[in-house]
Parts: sequence; C-alpha cells; structure tokens
Amino acid sequence: MNIEDAIKGRISVRAYLDKDVTNETITAVLDTARWSPSGTNTQPWKVAVVRGNSKQRISDELIKAVEGGTKANPDYLYYPEEWIEPFKGRRFQCGMDLYGALDIGREDKQKRIEAGMANFKFFGAPVTLFFFIDKIMGKGSWFDMGMFIQSVMLASREHGLGSCPQASTSDYPDIIRKELGVSDQYDLICGLSLGYPDDDKAVNQYRTRREEVEGFTDFFD
Ligand SMILES: Cc1cc2nc3c(=O)[nH]c(=O)nc-3n(C[C@H](O)[C@H](O)[C@H](O)COP(=O)(O)O)c2cc1C
Repeated sequence: MNIEDAIKGRISVRAYLDKDVTNETITAVLDTARWSPSGTNTQPWKVAVVRGNSKQRISDELIKAVEGGTKANPDYLYYPEEWIEPFKGRRFQCGMDLYGALDIGREDKQKRIEAGMANFKFFGAPVTLFFFIDKIMGKGSWFDMGMFIQSVMLASREHGLGSCPQASTSDYPDIIRKELGVSDQYDLICGLSLGYPDDDKAVNQYRTRREEVEGFTDFFD
C-alpha cells in the first residue's frame, strides 16, 4: 500500500468482524510503528495490548462508571472547556455525520446514548490497545505519541486491519491502570480499538470532511 492510500484511506472503524487478530500481527504492526520519530529519540511510548477477559473486565467497569454517573477523571484535558469556532462547528458536524451514518435522528436521545456507549464495548473490536506515557515527560513527548499512534493506525492497514482511536476510554484511567497493573506514574493517553473492519456496516461507509489546504496554510516567499 502506498503512503497516500494508507493515509487517505484510513477511517475510524466503528464496526468489526468477529475475527481475532493474532499477537504476531499486532507485534508486526508495532515493529513498524516503533520507527516513528521522537524528540532526542526518547521513544516515550508504552503500549498495552488487551483482549479477552481483561478487555471484558475493563468494558464492564467503564460501563458501570458511566451508567453510575461516576465523574470522569481523565489524566489530561483533551478539549477546551468552552468551545469556539471553527472547532465548535467541526465538532458538531462530526457528530451529525456519525449519527447520519447510524440513521439516528436529532431527537432520538436513547439511540445517541447507545451510540456513545458503543465506545465502551470497543465497537466490537477483538483487541484494544492502550497508550501510556510517563508523567515525567513534557508536552513535546505527547506529540511524539500522536505520531506513534498514527503510525500504528497506518501500519495496521498493511495487514487489512482497521482501527478507532478512543479518548472516551481515557475518562476513567484508574480503572484501566488497575486492571492492567500499570503504575500511577503513567498517564493514559487513549485507547485504540483494532480489528478487521466490517465493511458492510453503514457506520464504516461514510467519510468525515476536511478543510482544503488553503484554509489552514499560508505560503511565504
Ligand atoms: C486521539 C483521538 C481520540 C478519539 N476518540 C474517539 C472516541 O472516543 N470515540 C470515537 O468514536 N471516535 C474518536 N476519535 C475519532 C475521531 O472522531 C475521528 O478521527 C474524526 O472524526 C475524523 O474521522 P476519521 O478518523 O474517520 O478520518 C478519536 C480520534 C482521535 C485522533
């Protein structure tokens, strides 16, 4: 697969086939991704590959926390507390496009809740990766992590895999650290559901939009 196809063809996959992904395949993906760049080659990534009973326990605990109204306690603030344009509009459109693909109407609150809860079932993916970073590392290393996670998503496409990065699963990092025996010294960045995409599902058949290059770039001479 060439790089342009790998990047442009990646989507967030929210429905998966009931087909396992072997640890050999995941190791091959990570073996590629580990060649991502990082400031002074610090390679700040720490990855947990989670499946089976462990994934189920995390899923159960997350659902219990959300349904029980436990206050989210993420290790970092992903989004601004007050939204402004153009981000607000893009975020709204993102939701509308997803609900449109799922055929969920504006007023159907219950279905929207169910769509949100699908996050905590990892959209039916057989495997979920969790990405951690040592708290001692600064902001720069967090964007190393972003590059690494994008590398994981792209490398996984070479193996016919799809993925969905999930910040939603980082709302309760203590649940995940406890289940995986990860020390408090590590911040949880996000999860990444991974599996073979179910291409027949409408939720995997729509594309999110992007601004044109002119909209975010100035050329200087
Ligand atoms: C770090 C990160 C966290 C995300 N968290 C979630 C999430 O919790 N749930 C979800 O359904 N999508 C999540 N997404 C997916 C975005 O909504 C998606 O990338 C965006 O709408 C663009 O669509 P695309 O990935 O299909 O190109 C996340 C994406 C990133 C990069």
